[in-house]
Amino acid sequence: MFRTLRRMAVGLLLAMAVAGPAHADDGYRLWLGSAGGNASVTVEGNSPTLILAADELRRALPANTPPIRLARVKDAGLGNEGYAVRRSGSTLVINGQTDVAVLYGAFALIRHVRSGGDPAQASLRSTPRVALRLLNHWDNLDGSVERGYAGQSLWDWWTLPDYRDPRYTDYARANASIGVNGTVLNNVNAKAESLSAPYIAKAAALADVFRPWGIRVYLSARFSAPIELGGLKTADPRDPAVAAWWQAKADEIYRAIPDFGGFLVKANSEGQPGPRDYGASHADGANMLAAAVKPHGGVILWRAFVYADSDPTDRAKQAYAEFQPLDGQFASNVIVQVKNGPIDFQPREPVHPLFGAMPRTRLAAEFQITKEYLGFATHLAYLGPLFAEALDTPTGHVTQGNEAGQTVADTLTAVSGVSNIGRDRDWTGSTFNQANWYAFGRLAWDPTLPAQAIAREWAAQTFGPDARVIDTASAMMMRSREAVVDYTGAFGLAHLFSSDHHYGPGPWIDDLKRPEWNPVYYHRADRNGIGFDRTRTGSNAIAQYAPAIAARLARPETTPPELLLWFHHLPWEWRMADGRTLWEALARRYDRGVAEVMAMRRDWATLKGRVDPERWAKADTYLAIQTREAKWWRDSSLAYWTSLNGLPLPQGMAAPE
Ligand code: GCU
Repeated sequence: MFRTLRRMAVGLLLAMAVAGPAHADDGYRLWLGSAGGNASVTVEGNSPTLILAADELRRALPANTPPIRLARVKDAGLGNEGYAVRRSGSTLVINGQTDVAVLYGAFALIRHVRSGGDPAQASLRSTPRVALRLLNHWDNLDGSVERGYAGQSLWDWWTLPDYRDPRYTDYARANASIGVNGTVLNNVNAKAESLSAPYIAKAAALADVFRPWGIRVYLSARFSAPIELGGLKTADPRDPAVAAWWQAKADEIYRAIPDFGGFLVKANSEGQPGPRDYGASHADGANMLAAAVKPHGGVILWRAFVYADSDPTDRAKQAYAEFQPLDGQFASNVIVQVKNGPIDFQPREPVHPLFGAMPRTRLAAEFQITKEYLGFATHLAYLGPLFAEALDTPTGHVTQGNEAGQTVADTLTAVSGVSNIGRDRDWTGSTFNQANWYAFGRLAWDPTLPAQAIAREWAAQTFGPDARVIDTASAMMMRSREAVVDYTGAFGLAHLFSSDHHYGPGPWIDDLKRPEWNPVYYHRADRNGIGFDRTRTGSNAIAQYAPAIAARLARPETTPPELLLWFHHLPWEWRMADGRTLWEALARRYDRGVAEVMAMRRDWATLKGRVDPERWAKADTYLAIQTREAKWWRDSSLAYWTSLNGLPLPQGMAAPE
């Protein structure tokens, strides 16, 4: 009996030794890792933010790190948020003009060390390229999250404002570590109640927790709140009583939250109320709200995501048609928030034509970090390349001082990311989804960072210094988004998702209430061809782009192949640059997408024992699901296309199962 027990104990120890990292990791600590350091840090003064920065450094960096000194300095080149980290004699000095800049410098040093850099050699200097870097939570007051796949809302409205869950602090730490400096707490499909006194108090409690971390709170506002909350008969922005109501509401909020960021507004879009209900323009609506927050230094983020029955020819044209003519009419504290593409967060879209087309208006780019159209929390799709690709796209517009032409990033005052965070232990529903939150913050700070470098940096901090793990995980990540594009529909096909939930294939669907909700509206495939003609012979959406870009998009031969069917309707027999027919090329992309997912799973298998068992097993299971579902996408899509075009599958491809 005793011997058996002893044998079992020895066996267990051996098993633990072979299994590599023995402890399970549930992902709660994100890329911040566990406490284990004991670095020596000195701070001047007693600013709460500097004390937090010192704690982070002590917690993360080992005792043999050179002594670190945190100090505010005058260095105009750093602006309000930039930092400098450098060696001075035997000390490492972290400088910034403000406390929060020093905090960013502390996190930069931690990132440097945790991703393999030598602390003694650290020489880091960086200022953010975009002023406002915001998460947008689509969190409802009942705890549900619109398009959220990581559990209930993080905000426990029921126990706020009294109970401040320590998790709110961990949320703020994670965001500060990547430079996020604002958070919109509630869904753009907003309830008026979110601006009522009890909810203002709850938001104020969160703002108190976030403040030392440099994060401001914003709220989504329902345009008709003066009616629902205030008992007014109208929400017409030109009515003085309406303006007075908003002014009083803003004053009330700023009494509770002196550094309140402002309002995010979805107006006249998908059934939401707005100024158009009263014959007023988006500028009228936005400016009226802007006047209310202006005395307090707040901004209005006014979304350009609208589509109305007024122009049924092409949904992709509607935001530009409605907003571009208003350029120059928006108040200086209005920021028009534009989705990265003209439709809706597809696996690939061209950039929105409004970027660069409103030179007298401040703009924000809105990305979706939550993967509404890329397999929810289950599929592995690293969005770093998607964000970077959009930010780096030339707008074709040339401005004074920017004769080479602007990129999308050059046009921005703000970047917003629709959050993928919920109450799951790992915050985002899977380990790899954490990388999308991370990449969003890093790129919002510096849109020129390469997505691959961000992937490696994230992997090193998340999984530890094992080079095999970093190489393999980051390589998987870098191929993952293109795999999703391939198995959901390559070459610029878009919106082929099933029904309202947007999970799984549905290119055949054509019975939804509005024509532009139906996949057939987007692919326009029939016996002869496929794709949406957005040239002069079709909707002419290309005319919304700068002339140089529009000229290239006018012809399929000069359109980037990955956007071919977004802009052109072509015969199935169309010859691609490599001589294959469009049909063959498209069919093979579906196959490639499936093959890529299978390859990712094989690569992940080689890391068994090198990644802690809990996270390894979950990712492995999810990759198995993704393999099954990539095949489902491929087989059902191919079956549908062949039912239309009657063409055989390219040689060597098996018939759909
Ligand atoms: C998409 C999404 C909606 C969301 C909307 C928006 O259409 O499916 O859930 O409300 O975008 O961005 O407002």
